[in-house]
Formats: sequence, structure tokens, C-alpha cells
Amino acid sequence: MGSRTFVLIKPDGVQRGLVGAIIRRFEERGLKLVGIQMRHVSEELAESYYAEHRGKDFFLPLVAYVTSGPVVAMVWEGPQAVEVARGTIGATDPADATPGTIRGDYGVDISRNLVHGADSEASARREIGLFFRDEEILSYTRIDEFWLRGS
Ligand code: RTP
Ligand code: MG
Repeated sequence: MGSRTFVLIKPDGVQRGLVGAIIRRFEERGLKLVGIQMRHVSEELAESYYAEHRGKDFFLPLVAYVTSGPVVAMVWEGPQAVEVARGTIGATDPADATPGTIRGDYGVDISRNLVHGADSEASARREIGLFFRDEEILSYTRIDEFWLRGS
């Protein structure tokens, strides 16, 4: 099993009809989708999942943003999943994000940056635990794994 990361398509990604386009980026990169759910995020869940930002200027708008509509929460697996996913997502502020990344291709403003990706393996474990039960994460082989990893 490779390492896992947690990725969440924020409400703007859902409202703008970008769910398929965003998932495709991770699928084509070679990460394996092992868990997915669509849901609303409660204020309580938003505050615990963004606990590291409590007290910052953007905390309340951030909580309002991620609770403003349905989101798609996912678990992706693969070599260096956290770093690989963060690279595909791009810089926090879409205005600075490199074209070719999700934020660099679909966004222009930091308060609407489309996607969240866990920033470390410890954060990934914590965030996966907030959104998923163990039995909601699947184990299977993708037929292209040999061509992605060489073994
Ligand atoms: P994320 O956690 O959503 O993947 O984003 P990130 O690691 O790239 O950035 P982080 O520093 O964790 O910030 C979390 C989210 O807060 C919003 N933000 N707004 N107005 C601002 O200055 C500001 N700074 C951060 C963004 O939605 C960012 O993704
Ligand atoms: Mg972050």
C-alpha cells in the first residue's frame, strides 16, 4: 500500500461544475482513489478540520466558505501521496499558482481556491479520520500500477 492523502473539493469546485475535471487531474497523475463521499460540512467539522487556522483573520470566512455548499471529500493513495497531490493542487493563492495546477488553471482568488489537500502525513491521517470510517476506505489494485511504478 502506498501512502494516503486527504483531498477535498470545496463548494466552489462543486458549484462551478469542476468535480469531474478536478478528480481527473489526480486520476491521470496516477494516484489511486480509495475513498470518496459527497456531503455538507458542518461548522463544527469545519472548525476541527481547520483548527490550525483558528484565530487568524481568515478563519471565520474560511469556515463560512467550506460550509456554504456540498463538498467532495476523497482519499487518494500512491507514492508520496501528500506531496504529489499538493503539487497537482498548486499554490494556496490561485493568483500565484502555476498554470497546469488545479488552482492555476481554474482560480484567481485565495478565498475561492477550489481544493484542499492535507499538508503532511500526520494531517492526512487526522483529516481522513474526521471524514471517513475505516471501512469506507477501499483496498484494490489499479490495472496500470506496474506502468506507474515499475514494480
Ligand atoms: P488548504 O489547507 O485548503 O489545502 O490550503 P493550503 O494548505 O494551501 O493553505 P492554508 O495556509 O492551509 O490555508 C487554508 C485555506 O484558508 C484560506 N486562506 N485564506 N485570505 C487569506 O489570506 C487566506 N489564507 C488562507 C484558503 O482557502 C486556504 O486554502
Ligand atoms: Mg492547509
